[in-house]
Amino acid sequence: TRVAVLYGGISAEREVSLASGTQCIAALREAGFAVTPIEATRDLGGLIAALQAAKPDVVFNALHGRYGEDGCIQGVLDWLGLPYTHSGLRASALAMDKVAAKTVFHAAGLPVLPHRLVDLAELAETDPLPRPFVVKPVNEGSSVGVHILRSGDNRRGEIARGWRFGSQALVEEYIPGRELTVGVLEDRALAVTDILADAGVFYDYDSKYAAGGSRHILPAAIDPGIYNQAMRVAVAAHRALGCRGATRADFRYDDTAGEPGRLILLELNTQPGLTPTSLLPEQAAHVGMPFPALCAWMVENARH
Ligand code: DAL
Ligand code: MG
Repeated sequence: TRVAVLYGGISAEREVSLASGTQCIAALREAGFAVTPIEATRDLGGLIAALQAAKPDVVFNALHGRYGEDGCIQGVLDWLGLPYTHSGLRASALAMDKVAAKTVFHAAGLPVLPHRLVDLAELAETDPLPRPFVVKPVNEGSSVGVHILRSGDNRRGEIARGWRFGSQALVEEYIPGRELTVGVLEDRALAVTDILADAGVFYDYDSKYAAGGSRHILPAAIDPGIYNQAMRVAVAAHRALGCRGATRADFRYDDTAGEPGRLILLELNTQPGLTPTSLLPEQAAHVGMPFPALCAWMVENARH
């Protein structure tokens, strides 16, 4: 089987994708596939030409963020008639837009937070919600652009003025407690990981990708009812958006008033990180699927 690996790209998560792609290329070769690496840049014509020259049986999408995770590249691959790993155009576009995804999750009865979508001018002027609250871009990943504003923090104006993520920001109540994540392979939830960000205030970009930036407790040592709820909600979220292949659902779990506490679905990632510090590969290995086997599974489940 000939596999073309797309990685790099032009989003804020380019470096993450280079790390994911490099690992996937090595693992796919180890698993016996004939691999053509294709680094995506601004040159879409060049990308299409490289794909047509490689004549792959399957395209392995190792891109993250805008253009790679939001339906754009999926539409190009659909147009070219090439099967590819992970979700299709519609599910990708829905998942990448946190407001659209939350609307679908809410309609499916899944536990999401109410939110406000605020103009930057409003954010510059006043607190949209009681503190503490979270400000985040509608469609970014890896915590790029995410801020938690607690009482006494005077960065709100600065954040509004420096905003590079469109004319609006998503604002939600801050949920104290734990950060949980669940990887899903089609209809199977892998495990729940409890993430402890070591240095930073939350599981931000640095704690996600620096070696030793966070500790992962796998399986999470939490109330068994909540553990099972997180597993069920992750699969239901994957289905609600119409996802394919691998996804990863991220949660907050407020156990600060004792267990069982409140579980909140934050989002679903259709292109979960496949870097050396990433969570889905760790969960797959935990259930007996080493990284080359995980990548091979993704190739075998590719569709178009
Ligand atoms: N957005 C990053 C890659 C993740 O969800 O793992
Ligand atoms: Mg994400």
